Amino acid sequence: MHIDIITCLPKLLESPFADSILKRAIDKGIVELTVHDLRPFSTNKHHATDDYAFGGGAGMVMMIEPIDRCISSLKEHRQYDEIIYMSPDGELFTQSLANQLSLKKNLILLCGHYKGVDERVREHLVTREISIGDYVLSGGELAAAVLCDSIIRLIPGVLSDETSALTDSFQDGLVAPPVYTRPADYKGWKIPEVLLSGHGAKIEEWRHDMALERTKQRRPGLTP
Ligand code: ADE
Repeated sequence: MHIDIITCLPKLLESPFADSILKRAIDKGIVELTVHDLRPFSTNKHHATDDYAFGGGAGMVMMIEPIDRCISSLKEHRQYDEIIYMSPDGELFTQSLANQLSLKKNLILLCGHYKGVDERVREHLVTREISIGDYVLSGGELAAAVLCDSIIRLIPGVLSDETSALTDSFQDGLVAPPVYTRPADYKGWKIPEVLLSGHGAKIEEWRHDMALERTKQRRPGLTP
């Protein structure tokens, strides 16, 4: 998979990909991820990427020209499955959408800032708009990092034990069951006996029951 992220604050996207699972996926060559600074695509003498809103009002608006130039230059090298604008009013990101996107080959993620992008970017340049939740972040960068993390970990070969992505919460419409590790008794707080039984089928049954119970209690809206 190849992911191009377009941003006017590239530094915000350095650390999420510099460690752990995402770094390993990049090092193994399973994912190629490039962060593109929007500034060099500005024809403005100060390399500005934003301007005042027509009609007045507080807040700057990201200009269409640098975004169009950046996307066009990327399209010269690849065909993109989706050009995604990260926006609080986009389609809500879910595990099911993460699964769909993890099957794509080439993605562009566009990060908004300030008051957002010139509406014509949304009308003419992007194919999809995604929100990671009903709250407003200062920009789309952290949202893009969240989206990348959740889709990259689903690509076969990224997690060393592939089944661990399959047993994630939401993957089967249920939240994950509780997990425990040593010691089995800490200050008298004991783990469920069944986990010490060595009986694989019973343990699986217990895990499934717990996942059902937890889903009912915590996330009754989920449909298994
Ligand atoms: N940009 C600002 N807030 C956002 C959100 N909640 N999701 C995606 N992009 C955003």
